[in-house]
Amino acid sequence: MKKKSKSFVCTNCGYRSPIKLGKCPNCGTWDSFEEEETSSETQNIPISLEENPPATYEERIKTGIEEFDRVLGGGIVKGSAILVGGEPGIGKSTLLLQVAGVISEKLKVIYVSGEESYNQIKMRADRLSIHTKNLYIFIEQDVNLIKSTILKEMPDLVIIDSIQTTFLNDIEGAPGGLNQVRESARTFTGLAKKTGISVILVGHVTKEGILAGPKTIEHIVDGVFYLEGSRNDVTRLFRSVKNRYGTTNEAGIFEMEEKGLVGVKDPSIEFISKNGEIPVGSTITASLEGSLPIFFEVQALTTPTYFPIPRRVASGIEYNRLLLIVAILEKRLRLKLGGFDIYVNIIGGFKTEDRSMDLALAIAIVSSMLEKSIPAKSVIIGELGLGGEVRPTVGLERKITQGKRLGFQYFLVPSFFKDRITPKGINVHFASSVEEAKNLIF
Ligand SMILES: Nc1ncnc2c1ncn2[C@@H]1O[C@H](COP(=O)(O)OP(=O)(O)O)[C@@H](O)[C@H]1O
Ligand SMILES: [Mg+2]
Repeated sequence: MKKKSKSFVCTNCGYRSPIKLGKCPNCGTWDSFEEEETSSETQNIPISLEENPPATYEERIKTGIEEFDRVLGGGIVKGSAILVGGEPGIGKSTLLLQVAGVISEKLKVIYVSGEESYNQIKMRADRLSIHTKNLYIFIEQDVNLIKSTILKEMPDLVIIDSIQTTFLNDIEGAPGGLNQVRESARTFTGLAKKTGISVILVGHVTKEGILAGPKTIEHIVDGVFYLEGSRNDVTRLFRSVKNRYGTTNEAGIFEMEEKGLVGVKDPSIEFISKNGEIPVGSTITASLEGSLPIFFEVQALTTPTYFPIPRRVASGIEYNRLLLIVAILEKRLRLKLGGFDIYVNIIGGFKTEDRSMDLALAIAIVSSMLEKSIPAKSVIIGELGLGGEVRPTVGLERKITQGKRLGFQYFLVPSFFKDRITPKGINVHFASSVEEAKNLIF
């Protein structure tokens, strides 16, 4: 039997697209696409890269919230389904109601909530000054009912807040469970592809960073974005983890204010405890999140252990990375860390996997052991190899330029850059090993 596959064809110029587009990217005609069933055996043939125009230019809905659009790769792609994850209370509903508010000035938006009442959302909308006619609030949890309503109303954008509260009657398991979350996500993603409606799913991430629901649906959706930060702090980092329509590791910074999340165009030293002097056990480093250098404070606390096995606790830092750094310090600096519990933390709930923070983490632990603080206004950047060597990492010049703007004066960086950067108006020190770095600082 021949396999059938669906595609949409522009009735004006014959342009084909896997999804129904509002406007033909080839001839510019509106509402000209009609579905056709094609036999894949005859239709699916290799195409010459040289002779054919680009396939689909994705049509995007711009929100005008610059940080949000940039992280998505230029706006929300029509007919795509994305996931916005984050801890409860971090501001997902706030951000997405803002997005809904801006988009509904021109297009139709349905905001489906399974967690809050109409009044709660109305109050938030008032606080955010959202008063658009084309924004509809739909309080519902039943996926089939939501789906049929979407098909009837045919909005341009649907927000599902949250994927953990929606459920399908014919699927086993409680809402929020693996099965329900996955099937809900499948249904909404399928709906987006079929109709060209864009869908944003909201997903809660638990405190431990275990992505109970969201992790299981990452492969189903077109993009995964996280809103991070500490609930006690105003700074939020919005970043992409997966993006079929743009680069990953792009990030934007917001601040939570009375009137909602406000984009910070020129992020300052956001993840640093704000009291000038650097305390014992702390160091400051910078990571690159996409094209954005972010400066943050790494804290370490070492205390004599009372247990046969010393404790190692890492927050915001990969646990295994901590163990590795500890091993390097024991071997290369002959520090007797076996008798100490070690706690490490990044200020402000910031998380990163950027290895250029290795040296800063190592020096923070040394600082706590020696009970000596590092010089004020200093930044430490470099990855550590198993031999204790300081390895170069990408984006150093960008970090230094931004760091200088933020008022940092001393930079300790890998010796690899010795003849490659020309510091002006700042002090740059070069280290080739963790020993050398330690001797330069203490
Ligand atoms: N009046 C207010 N002014 C400023 N911030 C507020 C106000 N009310 C609530 N918030 C902030 O909004 C947060 C709740 O955000 P919300 O969007 O509901 O998070 P999520 O959807 O991720 O659980 C609260 O933790 C609080 O920081
Ligand atoms: Mg919410």
